[in-house]
Amino acid sequence: MSVNTKLNARITATGHYVPDNVIENKYFESYLETSDTWIRDRTGIYERRWLDKDKPTSFMAIKAIEDCLKNSNTTPEEIELIIVTTVTPDMMYPSTACVIQNQMGMKNAWGFDLSAACSGFLFGLNTAAQFIRTGVHKKVIVVGADKMSSIINPEDRNTVILFGDGAGAVLLEPTEDLSTGILDSILHIDGSGEQYLNQRAGGSLHPATYETIDKKMHYVHQEGKAVFKVAVIGMAEVSYEIMEKNNLKSDDIAWLVPHQANLRIISACADRMGLGMDKVMVNINKYGNTTSGTIPICLSEWYKNGKLKKGDNIVLASFGAGYTWGAILVKWDI
Ligand code: UT7
Repeated sequence: MSVNTKLNARITATGHYVPDNVIENKYFESYLETSDTWIRDRTGIYERRWLDKDKPTSFMAIKAIEDCLKNSNTTPEEIELIIVTTVTPDMMYPSTACVIQNQMGMKNAWGFDLSAACSGFLFGLNTAAQFIRTGVHKKVIVVGADKMSSIINPEDRNTVILFGDGAGAVLLEPTEDLSTGILDSILHIDGSGEQYLNQRAGGSLHPATYETIDKKMHYVHQEGKAVFKVAVIGMAEVSYEIMEKNNLKSDDIAWLVPHQANLRIISACADRMGLGMDKVMVNINKYGNTTSGTIPICLSEWYKNGKLKKGDNIVLASFGAGYTWGAILVKWDI
């Protein structure tokens, strides 16, 4: 197969889906020792959406992809590759990519799931871009989707208040204009962070047993303060680094598109980049932390609202379990 180095990947459409069911902070006050004020002050979250218990992650991913395809007049048959970034796949296997491919009739696509927690969408976007740049594929879907309500412990006030469900998708296509599209990426992993944020059971290390269930090992475990400290530094530094590396000043950046884990982490990242909050996409107040969904949901919402313009330099930034973190520089061109 020939490799074409004269192409770049550009985002040509976006779409998203969040469930209708709104869970306000006051719901947690009804059975946990917490308060709406604590949650708002410490996280920036006012409410989140939770999907019906009987519906899987693929339900939201399909809705987001349908929105994305509709916005670009593309049919499912035209898609050549689908990358699903998630930590809440429908099942251990087959992959959620297979479920989506089948249900949407993407009969010419191959695909796979990618696991990088809250950085999943960035890792997926960077992976997808390689298939476009090499000329291997012309239409690639990246969908970040997570049903976090399926893996949080309702009795754990440290985590249950943080997470929501949602999905966002982008379509990537080639361009011969190398000055636009996905311009640069800096991605990292550091597995020494595993102990602070994980879901230990359900895999081959701790298959499901009565004991793993009794010990609640199928739920998200997070040591919030420990993660907070590294997330602030990791996300802020990598976002600053990608600006420096590309000779961009804060005035050159139209939007920071941060992972939505905590408003305090987001504003620290904006500070480091010299950006006012008017240049930062924030919807954590409405949706909480949807893990892989946060960044593509922001892109889709802001584009739909006409706030994202052709030629805008935008920095996508994330930090999550693993640890995984990174930043991607995009010149928006739709
Ligand atoms: O998305 C992937 C990456 N994840 C992140 O980036 C999350 C990073 N961490 C955070 O966002 C924050 O650490 C949290 C929002 C999770 C917690 O905020 P914090 O300001 O770091 O609180 P803390 O964990 O230090 O807890 C402070 C106090 C503790 O009580 P004591 O020990 O001081 O008596 C907690 O038990 O707040 C208590 N607390 C709560 N109180 C009321 C913890 N959760 C709650 C709650 N309501 N829901």
